[in-house]
Amino acid sequence: MERILVSDLDTPCLLVNLDRMERNLRFMQEKAHLAGVKLRPHAKTHRTPAIARIQLEMGAGGITVAKLGEAEVMASEGIDDIFIANEIVGPIKLERLRRLARQVRRLAVGVDHTSHVQALSRIMAEEPRPLDVLIDVETGDPRTGVHPGKPVLELARGIEKAPGLRLRGIYTHDGQSYDASTLDEVREINRQSQTLMLETADLLRSSKIPVEEVSVGSTPSLLVDGILPGITEIRPGTYVFLDADQAQVLGTYAFCAQTVLATVISRPTPERVVLDAGTKALTYYVQDTGITRSAGHGRLKDHPEIFLNRMSDEHSSFDIPPGSALDFFIGQKLEIIPNHACPTTNLYDFIHGIRQDRVEITWPVLCRGKSQ
Ligand SMILES: Cc1ncc(COP(=O)(O)O)c(C=O)c1O
Repeated sequence: MERILVSDLDTPCLLVNLDRMERNLRFMQEKAHLAGVKLRPHAKTHRTPAIARIQLEMGAGGITVAKLGEAEVMASEGIDDIFIANEIVGPIKLERLRRLARQVRRLAVGVDHTSHVQALSRIMAEEPRPLDVLIDVETGDPRTGVHPGKPVLELARGIEKAPGLRLRGIYTHDGQSYDASTLDEVREINRQSQTLMLETADLLRSSKIPVEEVSVGSTPSLLVDGILPGITEIRPGTYVFLDADQAQVLGTYAFCAQTVLATVISRPTPERVVLDAGTKALTYYVQDTGITRSAGHGRLKDHPEIFLNRMSDEHSSFDIPPGSALDFFIGQKLEIIPNHACPTTNLYDFIHGIRQDRVEITWPVLCRGKSQ
């Protein structure tokens, strides 16, 4: 096989350090295994069927996606157990979902309102197999989701009566863990969220409604805290790559697997180093608050104390710290750890899997742009 070195690659391009990624995958798989729960990784972070297959080979029990378009691509690549952890709305998408349900061995979708239940039931009622649904429960992240307890019970009763649907269980995403100010607060959020889910599952069961799946998770919570008995499934996504934001939780950049390779294209002043990677190569993402807030717009992998402090569409730059002996030259290639892995992935057609200085494999990011 042709030997391609990382330094041979043109920039900006997306890299994943395979040793680090495999370590991250093993860590979470082991955690799920020890707790006796299913790991259903959220594929929105990598949008890459080849990586989903690695997760499944390592023991994952199906995958999660955020978008119908991601699910369609994953299904066409042979992945047959998919949970769309999101609400599907509108006739165009509902028709696509109906078709997908015929194709995928095990498909499920989220709901948080009776109007979702009615619309799904209408398209599924005449289908040969019922569609599994999970109720989206809001346990502290004010996004989608029904409040825990009685509102979930009411929605569950509606699903039980709806032709063409089967209630598989309940799910939540404790996204507020990103805004926690301390590690102890992350742990408290995780426990509170899981406890609300377990109490809600008990309420349903005591009302004779079976709950097969109690599905939880966000990467910060699962990096630093445990899984309570009674939880059946975890759905972390960002853990596969980690990023500069997650590194703030871990206190180290040593596990950040995703980088963008960029080239120094200008040295306009003694301290300023300008790269060929701007918002179109790294995104402009900055976490506003909390323990996952990393300064700037990405960090130098080999000198993570240095962050990109200016960014425009095609350029970013950093300043060499005063008194530092470091120097950078025009043409030099540098790896940048993005703040947030998921939207960065979506900027690239390919991910180069690297080991040491060598490109071992190149995967197409087949779900890139599949946001409908
Ligand atoms: C519904 C749902 N589940 C799971 C996840 C995975 O979270 P994380 O990327 O923190 O692991 C997300 C992330 O946005 C999500 O929205």
